[in-house]
Amino acid sequence: MTRNLALAPLWIAQIATKAKSFRDNPILGSATLNAWGLHVARRRLADAMSRHRRLRLAKHIEADEQIRFDELGYFVRHGALDAGHFAALRREIQDIRLPAREMRQGSTVTRRIGLDDLWLAQMPATSRFVKDRAVHALIHYAASYAGEPTFAIQTILAESSNAEADPQTLLHSDTFHPTAKAWLFLDDVTEDGGPFAYVPGSHRLTPQRLAWEREQSLSAAHSKDSMHSEGSLRATASDLAALALPPPTRMAVPANTLIVADTSGFHCRTPSPRSTRRVEVYATLRRTPFVPWTGGHLAALPPFAGRFAQLEMGLEQVLALSGLARTAWRPVGVTGAYEPAKI
Ligand SMILES: [Fe+2]
Repeated sequence: MTRNLALAPLWIAQIATKAKSFRDNPILGSATLNAWGLHVARRRLADAMSRHRRLRLAKHIEADEQIRFDELGYFVRHGALDAGHFAALRREIQDIRLPAREMRQGSTVTRRIGLDDLWLAQMPATSRFVKDRAVHALIHYAASYAGEPTFAIQTILAESSNAEADPQTLLHSDTFHPTAKAWLFLDDVTEDGGPFAYVPGSHRLTPQRLAWEREQSLSAAHSKDSMHSEGSLRATASDLAALALPPPTRMAVPANTLIVADTSGFHCRTPSPRSTRRVEVYATLRRTPFVPWTGGHLAALPPFAGRFAQLEMGLEQVLALSGLARTAWRPVGVTGAYEPAKI
């Protein structure tokens, strides 16, 4: 209890940050405060700020792509790279072996190999994609921020799965404010290969969505679903119907397709009836939601720029060893993207 009281100033300070866990922060998770409108106020303010920032970021993307994104919540580019560039990038990723980490969620293992400048120096075609300002512009718009996205080679190794076995197969919103994830698929993603799915238009904060969020915020702290209680709210098919949202679109797409999504919208990895291995270049950008400016990203400045993956991995390990934070990620040593799971 004494320890809990000592943390109170931190919990209060976190109201103004991207902290999202109803369970870990008794203020964010308070049924009384949320009945008075705390979660709804954070949601509305974050939404207003993100719309303000996107107005400034829109000039860096094509007008027709912006219209589609505003409607759907994601960008899709088929044939994202020219054929020669894509073939060279794929070859580099097939051949290289680098320090990796893995995380198991039920029957699925996710492997990430952070693409810092040190490694990109050996991978010219991959580097060209990672440094592409036009790709960054899509990620920036989806995230509603400029700044330095974190890139990795990501492998999803899924045994034939169901919703119980892999929490990522339940429709969810990653957090309460816009945030970007991007995937360039190195191989064809088939219908039965557990494709990414997204509920079109679910990134928009409608009055129905706001009422649903308020309802969830009253009980989320005590949910049996740990991801839900941590602020990645889960939605059922009946929730979608109540929110007047369509069913999710399954993204079974050919190799060399780039998807960039605002993952505050509802999305999931669909369960796969067979074991699958998916390799992709993955990127993410999530920043604190309550500022009016788009720049000033620490990760874009020295000494962090180009070294973020290694620094993040090191920090995660230090926090885990000192007991200050949990991490599900395990370092697995030097590994190739197409190798079997090690954990
Ligand atoms: Fe997610």
